[in-house]
Amino acid sequence: MPRKILVTNALPYANGDIHLGHLVGYIQADIWVRFQRMRGHSVHYVCADDTHGTPVMLRAEKEGLTPEQLIDRVHGEHLRDFTAFGVAFDNYHSTHSAENRFYAEDIYAKLRAGGLIDTRSIEQYYDPVKEMFLPDRFIKGECPKCGAADQYGDNCEACGAAYAPTELKNPYSAVSGAKPVLKTSEHYFFRLSDERAVAFLREWTRGTNAAGERRLQAEAANKMKEWLGEEGENKLSDWDISRDAPYFGFEIPGAPGKYFYVWLDAPIGYLASFRNLADKRAAEGESIVVEDYTDAARAATAGTEMVHFIGKDILYFHALFWPAMLKFAGYATPSQLCVNGFLTVDGAKMSKSRGTFITAHSYIAQKLNPEWLRYYFAGKSNGTMEDVDLNLDDMIAKVNSDLVGKFVNIASRCAGFIAKRFDGRLASELNEELALQWGALDAKFQMAHAKITQAYEDRDYSRALREIMALADQANSFVNDEKPWELAKQPNNEARLHQVCSIAIGLFKALTGLLKPVLPKLAEQVEAFLNIAPMTWNDALEPLAGHTINAYQHLMTRIDRKQVDALLEANRESLAPAAAPTAKEAKDAKAASSQQRHAEKQQHAAQAAETASEHISIDDFTKVELRIARIVNAEHVDGADKLIRLQLDIGETDDAGAAKPRQVFAGIKSAYDPASLVGRLTVMVANLAPRKMKFGMSEGMVLAASDAEGQTAGLFLLSPDAGATPGMRVK
Ligand code: 2FM
Ligand code: ZN
Repeated sequence: MPRKILVTNALPYANGDIHLGHLVGYIQADIWVRFQRMRGHSVHYVCADDTHGTPVMLRAEKEGLTPEQLIDRVHGEHLRDFTAFGVAFDNYHSTHSAENRFYAEDIYAKLRAGGLIDTRSIEQYYDPVKEMFLPDRFIKGECPKCGAADQYGDNCEACGAAYAPTELKNPYSAVSGAKPVLKTSEHYFFRLSDERAVAFLREWTRGTNAAGERRLQAEAANKMKEWLGEEGENKLSDWDISRDAPYFGFEIPGAPGKYFYVWLDAPIGYLASFRNLADKRAAEGESIVVEDYTDAARAATAGTEMVHFIGKDILYFHALFWPAMLKFAGYATPSQLCVNGFLTVDGAKMSKSRGTFITAHSYIAQKLNPEWLRYYFAGKSNGTMEDVDLNLDDMIAKVNSDLVGKFVNIASRCAGFIAKRFDGRLASELNEELALQWGALDAKFQMAHAKITQAYEDRDYSRALREIMALADQANSFVNDEKPWELAKQPNNEARLHQVCSIAIGLFKALTGLLKPVLPKLAEQVEAFLNIAPMTWNDALEPLAGHTINAYQHLMTRIDRKQVDALLEANRESLAPAAAPTAKEAKDAKAASSQQRHAEKQQHAAQAAETASEHISIDDFTKVELRIARIVNAEHVDGADKLIRLQLDIGETDDAGAAKPRQVFAGIKSAYDPASLVGRLTVMVANLAPRKMKFGMSEGMVLAASDAEGQTAGLFLLSPDAGATPGMRVK
């Protein structure tokens, strides 16, 4: 019986670019969808932009656009990027849509009727300048635990403490810089702590879906246990689902000035996109019965499934709020959550200064083949929530050796003979000995087929690709042993050459079929070259005896390290020298990702941070320790074109009480004669981390003015007014 599956990917926020970190989950889902379709199952695959909330509103304002204009533009960009990577949604919609408003209002009304909506007054920080309540991520201040400056309102990146924004010391608004004030307003809550919700979630977590599979991966189920607590315990809190104006979103019916919180209508966007797809298809004469997927009773009868692919940072929303909302509004609940980990690049968190925060668009613009990345990500995906590391050298090696060296090589070594010597026609019969060889190879392919099927089903693409590459090795051994290029030179081996090349092309076809969910574009090219209909999962291994194929066209090039370097360069945002990740950074990557998950639980961190003000706070400024320094010595540095070695007195002494000047290397040789500097006062940064240079340690920095180009107009060392003395703090 064909399965009927609605598959979704997490909806990306409408205020940022798609980057390679996003693509991990989208590529995993797309592969699964293509595999299920090849097997003959019916799959509707939808996504949309997640458009509502404060960050989008502020981002639009910053760009001088209305939120609608911003989300329109971003919609086009996101769809362009997904399409380029072969992520082929049936529909890419928006949460700012009529369908979404309908479902959000419907679900809310039903929860309300079921006694699951409460109102409560809460006190929150309010920006008196912007006249708006501030989400946690838009409030900054000193950590109440460790005192670190400039920490977000929900957790401290320095010590990892979690707290309420009201606990921050010296809080300020990241939007206007103003000191926030506490203000009370009425909020709407979804009563997740209701015992009906708790009981349902316990049952939902443990159960299996219509396909007999667990709804959650083992790690996700463990998280759920942690969140739900022991039987009889109730650890869940009610969920605040409203936000006050000004807010970009849907106003709550009957509650003027109150809006649905972005996370309420975001997952509802899955249903909205699906409804929108059905309407589009209906206009083309095709019928999709949406209620068979969305209505609890009808979905049970129809045996439909709803499968969500999400990142691990948003598990909380999808495993608690979302199923409970659906359940108590009479909607069908998710059949399965497929949760992926974060992406690290070369063992470290993606970094803009290192150029590893790689946007999807830049990858395409640099003319890298998207299927290289699909293949590499697939090889790193094992169906668990583990993080995926993109090791760029490893990617180059894998693609070049597996795809070009093993897979494409089979066709490129044999197809030419079929075209030139046999009019493009494959042999229809094999001699006895080759028939035996073929039989043995075919048996191996058939056996592996079952294992590969299960691996794809489990989203363990890494296992699937290992099996497929082992088959490619078998096919290559056959070609290496038979050496068609030598057979071609021998006078009486025409028939053997024909049969050997035909077997090889048949194996190549089978490998292509098995790789097709991962490499759809390449598979399409191969289908055209082999002159065959689009392959399904079951006919991938069918032989091609007697079939006429087309001339071989080049299928895939090798990756050149230069292309990857150019990609990193294109994504490098600052001119600061790119440090290679240290072993410690690599080790910290895991810890960092767990912090990231924590931070993103309530509000997406990067998104909010990006939209926040470009101003620095007074705390940022006071972190820099500026002091008056007397230049007690200045001299040329042998072998350095630009540097002068300075000894700077800032009032520091050694244990014996003797003056202990700091050594600083300053790039001011073009403007100053060392002798002229001795004795004068200037300003130095005294708390800069000491830096080991070729000529010795540099223990600070002096300040000089220059024009925008650098030094064309000269360099001007700062001096204080008369009266300042060494060691005075500059504030
Ligand atoms: O974390 C995010 O990027 C959210 N925009 C994901 C939303 S998924 C779904 F709920 F819409
Ligand atoms: Zn702290």
